Amino acid sequence: MKTLACVVGARPNFMKIAPILRLIETRSSLEAWLIHSGQHYNENLSGQFFHDLGLRQPDENLNVGSGSHAVQTARMMTALDISFDNRRPDALLVVGDINSTLASALVAVKRGIPVIHIESGLRSFDRTMPEEINRLLTDRMSDLLFVTEPSGVENLLAEGIDENRIHLVGNVMIDSLFHARERAIPAQTTIARAQHGGHEKIIEDGRYALLTLHRPANVDDPSILKPLMAAITEIAEVLPVVFPVHPRTREALDRSAFVGEQTGRNLIMTDPVSYLEMVGLLQDAALVLTDSGGLQEESTALGIPCLTLRDNTERPITVSVGTNEIVGNRPQELRAAFDRFMSGQRKTGAVPAMWDGNAAARITEIIENWI
Ligand code: UD1
Repeated sequence: MKTLACVVGARPNFMKIAPILRLIETRSSLEAWLIHSGQHYNENLSGQFFHDLGLRQPDENLNVGSGSHAVQTARMMTALDISFDNRRPDALLVVGDINSTLASALVAVKRGIPVIHIESGLRSFDRTMPEEINRLLTDRMSDLLFVTEPSGVENLLAEGIDENRIHLVGNVMIDSLFHARERAIPAQTTIARAQHGGHEKIIEDGRYALLTLHRPANVDDPSILKPLMAAITEIAEVLPVVFPVHPRTREALDRSAFVGEQTGRNLIMTDPVSYLEMVGLLQDAALVLTDSGGLQEESTALGIPCLTLRDNTERPITVSVGTNEIVGNRPQELRAAFDRFMSGQRKTGAVPAMWDGNAAARITEIIENWI
């Protein structure tokens, strides 16, 4: 039996590892050793996700917590080094593009442990994004690279990566989404809770936009965040906006003295929601406004129009095939895109090839043969 060390750290990692782990644990030739770096530690960013995804408790938690990128990455590397000394895995399996992904790949590659990367090849070509650096370096160190969309294959080939290592397999994030849909918590329940059981009228199905915002480029600088929130507040007067607020964004809003409650009751702000609440909010939304990579993909998979509040995407298939539109973070452009949406110009799309709920099965089979 071969041992795969599976390192996860933050919310989107949990969604991506869950379907893989479910399958690995049915194979007699493979054994997963689940390590949580502790990058996300809040119950609503971590523990609740494990519960909703049916993920078992990690075998190990490195408890690294928050810090600067250097501190966080260094702490993870030190802790993983000890961990790999104690239990020598046959390969490392990582998903996505967060600091935990890069830190664990670096430790593994220097110890001669082969690296398997799921969600390889995505490129925004924007090196100011920490995730872009994490993607580039992790792919460079990986032995087996699983890709969600054709652009990823092209990017990896252009970077000189051997084509025999690259496998286009579809999207494990969508495996999780399809697996969770039936268990999703109805949007009405989450919205009623977010309104603290107040007297406001609960938003009717499909008559709200779902907003998420957490990229440093959007939230860290008040001269960007303030006008963006002003535009969103205006939008909410036309189409109510439900906004689960990431802790980073909450801190930034507090710093810029933004008080959502004063902006009228059509901007409904809440703490981060659980995965099953998010899936429920998503499937009933009329529109998604986001800077998240995952939500761009999930809205495409569900056929819901999505306005991406960034200047680029590393997931271009969500634009070329799916329902995504890149609008940036400037108020005028957001407002113009929203007005087009309200006037009935709504982007329709198709579901990309192999985003069918079976990506993890393809991946597991390839890993079994390879290892
Ligand atoms: C990380 C990932 C990002 C992913 C996101 C999902 C990197 C570089 N970024 O960003 O790609 O989209 O997760 O959320 O790895 N915090 C808490 N509680 C927690 C964790 C964080 O309050 O459990 C706060 C802390 O103030 C922390 C800040 O959020 O400083 C940022 O957390 P961090 O994990 O560094 O990055 P994210 O912004 O969450």
